[in-house]
Amino acid sequence: MNIQTILSADDRDWAAGVSGKIADKMKQVVNRSRDKIPYRTDNGVFDDCSSREKIGWWTNGFWGGILWQLFHATGEELYREEALKVETKLDPVLMNYDVMDHDSGFRWLPTAVAHWRVEKNHESENRALLAAANMTGRFNLAGRFIRAWNAFDDRDRRGYAIIDCMMNLPLLYWASRVTEDPRFAQIAMAHADTAMKAFVREDGSVNHIVNFNINTGEILGPVPGQGMNPNSSWTRGQSWGIYGFTLSFLHSGKAEYKKTAERIADYVLSVIPESNLVPVDYCQPRDVLWEDSTAAAITACGLIELAKCEDDAARAKKYLDKALALLKTLDEKRCCWDMARDELLEKCTAAYHDTEHDFTIIYGDYYFIEAVYKLSGTELFIW
Ligand code: GLY
Repeated sequence: MNIQTILSADDRDWAAGVSGKIADKMKQVVNRSRDKIPYRTDNGVFDDCSSREKIGWWTNGFWGGILWQLFHATGEELYREEALKVETKLDPVLMNYDVMDHDSGFRWLPTAVAHWRVEKNHESENRALLAAANMTGRFNLAGRFIRAWNAFDDRDRRGYAIIDCMMNLPLLYWASRVTEDPRFAQIAMAHADTAMKAFVREDGSVNHIVNFNINTGEILGPVPGQGMNPNSSWTRGQSWGIYGFTLSFLHSGKAEYKKTAERIADYVLSVIPESNLVPVDYCQPRDVLWEDSTAAAITACGLIELAKCEDDAARAKKYLDKALALLKTLDEKRCCWDMARDELLEKCTAAYHDTEHDFTIIYGDYYFIEAVYKLSGTELFIW
């Protein structure tokens, strides 16, 4: 479905207006953030995860993604220059086994692959193929899942797979396309098939982490993750599910993935608060007011892409209308348009049980920009 035919003139004007506000603010933000790779702001100033200790952090591709989106939308060289710095800063990560986990997609799709999409250069292709090859090595043949993390404390995580990984699979679909070797996509689809069985519940909600027996492949069940409890509905996990299964459908054409994305989307539409302000967990008690604006932005991205996949105009409109409502609410109530501060989205939360909530997180900014650009027609498709 061509979403431009569903959007009203007012909606198109709104998207163009917000794209303009993004361009104005981000020019100043990027100019004063040169050489950084931000994760969050402290008192309105971006931190920097470029150091040897922090460079392996899973979110370090999103700043590159913001820069490539801005370069694509505006053509301003500043953004390309800064994006290239992020990409090369990530090179030592490729040589560090401990931090090479399933999040290779989040790190190299918005950096090396985005660069390759713009310039088709061999160096970026090489980086992203190394990351993709490493990711395929995480596949557990017995359970047919991609292992999430390496060891980092005393929890045995060898059998852990997480819903977020659905967003990393596009690195494998990309690798199969450029190498004309189906191995990568075969592993991506095997993982997606397992995720449909092991993560998606009867009501369409999804688990965050599922543990498998690493030798027999038996599904052992959900374990505590970033949501309220293993059986609750962590909002960002639901958004990774909508967007991730939609992307697997886009790359493979397998209809079951679209059906699964629709089931998760329909669940989310049935529980999302009328305010369109998204909590950290759809099951959290009413008196817990913590929010996660990142989940709102990612849900909007997923719903827009899903709407594009729909032949049924009513269904496409339902998803698009909710995406617009989420984004307009973020624009009015949760976006910081103050030029002197670096963040865009306020009230983001990494995990329900963290001591800190309602701060700013770089991927919230990234997905908000991506979603608005999807509507204004200025997106560089990264996934
Ligand atoms: N992928 C980790 C998170 O969404 O927090």
